[in-house]
Amino acid sequence: MPSLLTATPIDIKKCASVEAVAVGFFKNPDGEFESSGSLTKELEKFFELTLLDELTFFSPSGKAGEIFEIPVSATDSKTERIFLVGLGDKSGAAYRSAGAAIGRKVRGKKTTVLSTLQDDQTHPISIALGAWVWNLKTDKKKENPTILIATKNKAAIEQACTIATAICRARDLVHTPANIKNPAWMGKQAEVFAKGTNLKVKIFAGSQLKEFGGLRAVGGSSPNPGPRMIQVSYQPRSKNKSEGALPHVVLVGKGITFDTGGVSLKRPYDTMTAMKSDMAGAAAILATLTALEELQPKVRVTALMMMAENAISATAQRPSDVIKHYGGTTVEVINTDAEGRLVLADGLAFADATLDPDYLVDIATLTGAATLGLGRQYAAMYTRDNVLAKQLSKAGEESGDRVWQMPLIDDYTQALESDIADFNHTADKGKFSAGSVTAALFLEHFAANRRWVHLDIAGTARSEVDAGENSKGGTGYGVRLLTQWITSL
Ligand code: BES
Ligand code: MN
Ligand code: ZN
Repeated sequence: MPSLLTATPIDIKKCASVEAVAVGFFKNPDGEFESSGSLTKELEKFFELTLLDELTFFSPSGKAGEIFEIPVSATDSKTERIFLVGLGDKSGAAYRSAGAAIGRKVRGKKTTVLSTLQDDQTHPISIALGAWVWNLKTDKKKENPTILIATKNKAAIEQACTIATAICRARDLVHTPANIKNPAWMGKQAEVFAKGTNLKVKIFAGSQLKEFGGLRAVGGSSPNPGPRMIQVSYQPRSKNKSEGALPHVVLVGKGITFDTGGVSLKRPYDTMTAMKSDMAGAAAILATLTALEELQPKVRVTALMMMAENAISATAQRPSDVIKHYGGTTVEVINTDAEGRLVLADGLAFADATLDPDYLVDIATLTGAATLGLGRQYAAMYTRDNVLAKQLSKAGEESGDRVWQMPLIDDYTQALESDIADFNHTADKGKFSAGSVTAALFLEHFAANRRWVHLDIAGTARSEVDAGENSKGGTGYGVRLLTQWITSL
């Protein structure tokens, strides 16, 4: 696979050898526009123009991500245009919008673009995200742009490239339709990604899942070809610290390759079409581990991808079934469309019982309610550990995968009472609503006393529009957040 991002020297000759060069502009405190970027002065001289004069022609607003194309030519130069890109308030988020706009300009084109805007990690990642495409069209060859970043800091761009590649990997998995991707196929992908690296992949199937009552109840609906728990483990190559002394992070991801709702069929029916993306949590943790393997943080990380298809079939579980989770807790299944918490419960209980995690994080496209509350820009985060919440909020703001802490409201736990089992999984006793909160309260039981965080990414994992960093469909949400947080531990 060609590298998504490449560092180049800050050099006008290099600019003259590519089709497009991006330069930033912003409004200064006096309300006047200024252009910025490491090569602006030299570009103006080389192409004999004044970028600000050119800009006035477009009546810019100064918003981040606004972009104008200026045709240029000079002898011995390949350059066809300069992109003048709005930097808004020059915050990290603004540099990400600017990056996404540059990416969008060159998406699907066999061209080279060089950004002189900024060389930290987040701006280049956003260029790669804006340029990302996925489809199964047969009519034309897929073309990809070459993205260059003018910088002295080659290492930062290599890291950005690692993270961007991982996000694109997660997106590719989420976009793959469910007639191609099933739990076993996901296992093969994990093995392909791990090949030639130090990542270890272990796939639990069939009788190895005997105790995983939730995963079996959901995945038993589909012969295609039954559920899997895919365990991927990372540990740093250098053995300076003894293995046991390193903090152990366990990530549990919801991996429903398609969610029909089961017997409690999803309605209205058109909401089902998006449900190939119901494995976005599992995709995000797998992709995160491939990034960590290159970044080598001094942490141990285990990913548990809880893979099943929630199909409607003669072997599907029924509303009123009672299942037994890993560790023995019994649960009365009321609505088979609340399948995510059933597969996660097994993963959390397994992690608590066998992996001794210092941090236990689950990530799942769990409830429509999370999207109603927060929309699509912030994931709902649940934890009782406010130190951890602060760390993740910070990692979210810095990386662009933002989270908002939501309350675990104890008054609502009675909603989980069942007359015949330890819990009722849909938490509908007492009519509290708050579907995202009660789902989190259900999961909390299985995390025991661990330092636990639940991320409900139903809103953020998928975009309904082609805008900014996102193409319509899977966003790869979570890769930046988890990578940033884990590398900062
Ligand atoms: N996968 C869905 C949640 C979802 C909805 C994700 C929309 C992305 C977009 C989940 O399995 C589900 O069906 N949840 C139900 C739970 C309810 C039955 C308690 C929901 O949110 O309606
Ligand atoms: Mn469902
Ligand atoms: Zn689901």
